[in-house]
Amino acid sequence: MSWSGRHLIDVDELSAEDLDAILAESSRQLESIDDGGGWADNLRGSNVALLFAEPSTRTRLSFEVAARRLGAETYVLEPLSSSMVKGETLVDTVRNLDALGFGVLIVRHHRAGSAAVAARHFGGHVVNAGDGWHAHPTQALLDLFTLTLELGTLAGRKVAIVGDVLHSRVAKSNVWTLTRAGADVWLCGPKQWLRGLESLPVQLTSDLDSALADADAVMGLRVQKERMAAGVSLGEYIDRYQVTERRLARAVAGARYLHPGPINEGVEVTRDVARGPRSLVLEQARNGVPVRMAVLVHLSGSPQPTQPVSERDLVRTHG
Ligand code: CP
Repeated sequence: MSWSGRHLIDVDELSAEDLDAILAESSRQLESIDDGGGWADNLRGSNVALLFAEPSTRTRLSFEVAARRLGAETYVLEPLSSSMVKGETLVDTVRNLDALGFGVLIVRHHRAGSAAVAARHFGGHVVNAGDGWHAHPTQALLDLFTLTLELGTLAGRKVAIVGDVLHSRVAKSNVWTLTRAGADVWLCGPKQWLRGLESLPVQLTSDLDSALADADAVMGLRVQKERMAAGVSLGEYIDRYQVTERRLARAVAGARYLHPGPINEGVEVTRDVARGPRSLVLEQARNGVPVRMAVLVHLSGSPQPTQPVSERDLVRTHG
């Protein structure tokens, strides 16, 4: 394994070789799951805390399953039933989790940068499980793994990511992993949602037909209805950007459809696409476990230096 990072905050810290190493380990873990193999002990004796300040189904449960399959004990901290409702900051919460002896902290938070803040105050390993609009590294890794299992090498493959790209942490992390893997990435959505993305090494378009033309894979993003106020109506969005079987006729035959979930069926995609033979949506969910196991295995092999906490860092980030 080449990657020896202490934390996983975003995929931009991973080289192409690191991605290969994580994919290889994910394959090994998937094989062991499929074979009904015995559980591993990489994290035996370790306590893993899951601090989820935003709702989650797939990420939270797959991290829990992954950590337990590696021998860890898992503990979920839900901010609404924690002292965060009394005003305790994220930083103070993290410092207390550190004092309680947790070795791994998995953080989902609505504020971009929260996982990086947590990493500065935690003696063990921090994994970002999605922070605001910033990043969702393990989602991008499992998307890469899922696509690689389906298509083989992604070099030269066209992948269209369609929807509210601007507000999507999934899209941002996927741009990094997919381009590192050599894919030709297109981002498609209303122009308001492509603003400021011009420096990315991708094609930007507001024309769905161009994005889908000869695409090998299409990734939908959840349309957050609250964002519709920013100049895009729901009806207009469905009209211009909903991924349908008819529109997918422009893609290569057998093009795959991915979506991180949760899906608004009938908004960003039709039910027949989301649940049909080209859909990889449930494979993505399933692959969350081996990929997150691979990430935890990598982290458990890295050193754990402790960094000093400065008063300046004791910012109020929650409550
Ligand atoms: N893909 C994803 O992050 O889903 P959850 O919000 O259910 O974890």
